[in-house]
Amino acid sequence: MREANGMGPLRLALTAALSAAALVVLTPLAGTATATKAGLYSRTQAAAGAKAYAANCASCHGVKLQGGMGPPLKGATAPYHGTETVGDVYEAVSTQMPLNKPGSLSPATYVAIIAYLMQQNGHPAGSKPLAPAAAARATEKM
Ligand code: HEC
Repeated sequence: MREANGMGPLRLALTAALSAAALVVLTPLAGTATATKAGLYSRTQAAAGAKAYAANCASCHGVKLQGGMGPPLKGATAPYHGTETVGDVYEAVSTQMPLNKPGSLSPATYVAIIAYLMQQNGHPAGSKPLAPAAAARATEKM
């Protein structure tokens, strides 16, 4: 029964090789997920959002998003920080803000403001602008 004895080491070697292959496959996948998560909006879009924010939001949330009559929208003291998704914030902002004129801006303007808020909260820019429908679905934490 020499053959049976030989199977053990061979199977061990195969298992080890397969595990190594699995690790090699999993590592780049994790990298891809991070890369996809990064860059939901474009730099140009965030710049347009900064202007729209200054015109429509800064009076209550502060020129530096530090807060005022409304809560701060930047950093750890922002109410949505690490808890709400980009989609939640887009929905809330586009239906409830500006507080004195809810829903008065265009979807493109709201989404540009979201891009600006993301930028100011440390989310990296990507190559393409964020579309309103994609913003509403975005599960990335603000
Ligand atoms: C007239 C003042 C006023 C203006 C203008 C205004 N906000 Fe607000 N905002 C508030 C107040 C007050 C609150 C807190 C009470 C509430 O949520 O209704 C708030 C809440 C928020 C929140 C919710 C934070 C959270 O997660 O609970 C966000 C986000 C926000 N505002 C964004 C904006 C944006 C973006 C604009 C511009 C398009 C804007 N606001 C314009 C007064 C204002």
